[in-house]
Amino acid sequence: MRKTVLSIPAILLSTVAFAGGLGAGPLPSEPAALQSPATAKAKLAPSGNLTLKEYVGKLTFFDANLSLYSDLSCSGCHSPEVGWTGADASIDALGAVYMGSVDGRFGNRKPPSAAYAGFSPVLNQGATVGGMFWDGRATGRTLGDPLSEQAMGPFLNPLEQAMPDAASVAGEVCKSKYKGLFKAVWGNDICNDVDKSFEAIARSIAAYERSSEVNPFASKYDLYLKGEAKLTASEANGLALFNVKGKCAQCHPSTPGPYEPTHPLFTDYTYDNLGVPKNPLNPFYYNFVSNPSGVHWVDVGLGGFLNDATQNGKFKVPTLRNVDQRPYPTFVKAFGHNGYFKSLESIVHFYNTRDTLGPCSDPLAATDRPGNTCWPAPEYASTVNHDVGDLKLTAQEEADVVAFLQTLTDLSVKTSPRRRSASTD
Ligand code: HEC
Ligand code: HEC
Repeated sequence: MRKTVLSIPAILLSTVAFAGGLGAGPLPSEPAALQSPATAKAKLAPSGNLTLKEYVGKLTFFDANLSLYSDLSCSGCHSPEVGWTGADASIDALGAVYMGSVDGRFGNRKPPSAAYAGFSPVLNQGATVGGMFWDGRATGRTLGDPLSEQAMGPFLNPLEQAMPDAASVAGEVCKSKYKGLFKAVWGNDICNDVDKSFEAIARSIAAYERSSEVNPFASKYDLYLKGEAKLTASEANGLALFNVKGKCAQCHPSTPGPYEPTHPLFTDYTYDNLGVPKNPLNPFYYNFVSNPSGVHWVDVGLGGFLNDATQNGKFKVPTLRNVDQRPYPTFVKAFGHNGYFKSLESIVHFYNTRDTLGPCSDPLAATDRPGNTCWPAPEYASTVNHDVGDLKLTAQEEADVVAFLQTLTDLSVKTSPRRRSASTD
């Protein structure tokens, strides 16, 4: 049951109609015989390609009971058929930030993909590479693994699953239908120790997020690299532009690299400021409880986490795998850390013309037709990277780059139960 604890400020209701109500979805499967570790092992081992640990991670990833009002699982904001990001087109079309288990409480950034994230190394000393989240703050230095460290966050984040403490998360798993499997993987007495259970839950989720089910490397581009598919003329030209004239591969490498030697990840896990404008539809601007600065709030990204202004405005380079994965063609996806861009066409046009179109008059007003006659000011200006912004691509070349990005969609993703939007799909 969803309960309203915070009221959405009137200004938000009057400016932006949020669909909100994502309905709770069932677990992907709830095998009956999960009570005893031995039975669990015997029954579940053969199913699919997942190891038992990965499977426990999957069950927890999709378990809405692990949220305050039992209505929100990780998949509510990281859904496979949307490339492991947010699954509500009506939210993406506006502020692109998702509501937590408590009504009216929103985060302040767009959910990045939870797939292909596990290759990110521990944040290095200079904080130039690695870590988890748009700003690297799950460094991985505590557990030696940024992905496991990240997985401990959302359960207790009041803006996300909002559970009161680690004990309540561990308690839910230890009385769940899959508790036997959890014990089979982590030991019969795991549930006697809250800290150990909580860490085991996080490590199981990380194992699932690293599994071949979540990271299948099964896009048309992967097939092309293996010589099993041909790119169209437009896709092939897009690839060439991506690598050279468009400079995309400088930050989104299209060839294997140090973190995964056999497949390209389309991110080097570094940080950069592209000068993405503010997304004025982000409800966080109007949440004066979490955000006393109101509309003047600036998301400074990495610099905020490091408390180092020279790093302000920088965000982690996201993978481009599944960037076009959608449940149906007209489903709106949002791009960038704040979801400012609503199409691949518009973000590619931004890379191409950011520095050639003049600035729009008011960053929070959309009167100037952004992207057409002007671009709004960057959210944080002084560290913007000017290697991109004037790529001199023709309209056809922009379209070819988009065509290439569309070859990065995993073809093996099965639709699985997820929280659904009441209004749009
Ligand atoms: C209410 C929506 C919401 C829920 C629920 C949620 N996430 Fe997220 N997730 C986000 C947002 C937003 C970010 C980015 C936050 C930031 O960078 O500050 C994020 C970031 C991440 C990342 C980092 C990816 C990267 O490349 O840095 C991973 C991995 C992830 N989430 C996994 C999970 C897991 C596992 C769960 C469940 C335990 C979960 N999320 C629950 C919204 C959500
Ligand atoms: C200097 C490094 C750099 C270069 C070059 C670069 N990108 Fe990016 N890219 C980033 C960063 C950093 C972000 C996230 C920025 C933000 O949200 O503030 C990003 C975000 C994106 C996104 C949004 C993904 C998502 O999930 O939200 C797409 C799509 C993208 N880039 C495509 C491209 C293409 C196409 C090119 C070439 C035309 C390119 N990038 C060149 C660093 C780079």
